Amino acid sequence: MTVAEALQWGAGQLTEGGIPNAAGDARWLLADALGVEPMRITLMAADPVAAEKLQQFQAHIAARQQYQPVAQIIGHRMFYGRRFRVTPDVLDPRPDTETLIEVALQAAFRRVLDLGVGSGCILLTLLAEQPDATGTGTDISDKALAVARQNMTDLGLSDRARLVQSDWLTHIEGVFDLIVSNPPYISTAEMADLSPDVTDWEPHVALTPGGDGLDAYRIITRHAADYLTPGGRLIVEIGAGQGDAVRILFQNAKLDDIVIHSDLDGRDRVVSGKIGKKIWKTSEKAQL
Ligand SMILES: C[S@@+](CC[C@H](N)C(=O)[O-])C[C@H]1O[C@@H](n2cnc3c(N)ncnc32)[C@H](O)[C@@H]1O
Repeated sequence: MTVAEALQWGAGQLTEGGIPNAAGDARWLLADALGVEPMRITLMAADPVAAEKLQQFQAHIAARQQYQPVAQIIGHRMFYGRRFRVTPDVLDPRPDTETLIEVALQAAFRRVLDLGVGSGCILLTLLAEQPDATGTGTDISDKALAVARQNMTDLGLSDRARLVQSDWLTHIEGVFDLIVSNPPYISTAEMADLSPDVTDWEPHVALTPGGDGLDAYRIITRHAADYLTPGGRLIVEIGAGQGDAVRILFQNAKLDDIVIHSDLDGRDRVVSGKIGKKIWKTSEKAQL
């Protein structure tokens, strides 16, 4: 079988299985089985596919027919130009989250805290983009932290990043000039509408806090001011309909300069705010 025939077979299988974007997914899966970049597939169309590579491709197609996300099958995802390992223990990094990166990089920072670090895509991207910064990533899931640790090592950032198991800010000490978070924000009602790629394969704890989806924002905004230096920023990713509710939580937390930022599709995606004047205890100021 040639590369072109394999691609056609794989796309056909996925189409029959009701997988959206069947041709695109088949290309990624075939490229991974062949050990080449997806853009090489067209150039290799007439080449024969070795038996063991074909077997690998068939296994990939079978996994995708069970709705396993492509990133989990091939084991990685590109995010903001870097490669991140992805397993069923972490959220598959979404392109929408790059909006949060863009907003965070609009101002310099030296100490960043990422709450709910998952694969590490936010924390590690920010550290890679800001070479004089150090950062802490937290997650409640030790399995997610293991993936983040692997990505930290792969990207050569172990000397500037620290990973801590913590229920939001419970085990965090010190102050930061930037706090970022992409917390679980899908409401219980919305969970029913998600595709099986998400509900069957991604960690439940990464998707929803239950209820109206806002609980993580309530906790984070309640405590963020205690961990921000004067002028420090809080930036969170939100679901498309959550802008107004999260803006009110930022206002209640006495954050200033609150902005709701849109993603490339024009949907509300990120809320940012800044801590204004603050009365410091002597012990806190010593940490600055
Ligand atoms: C939506 S995922 C985001 C992962 C990653 N930051 C990203 O943007 O791809 C949310 C993350 O928050 C973590 N999480 C959920 N509840 C938490 C809690 N109570 N404390 C800390 N982290 C929590 C989940 O394990 C998950 O890794």
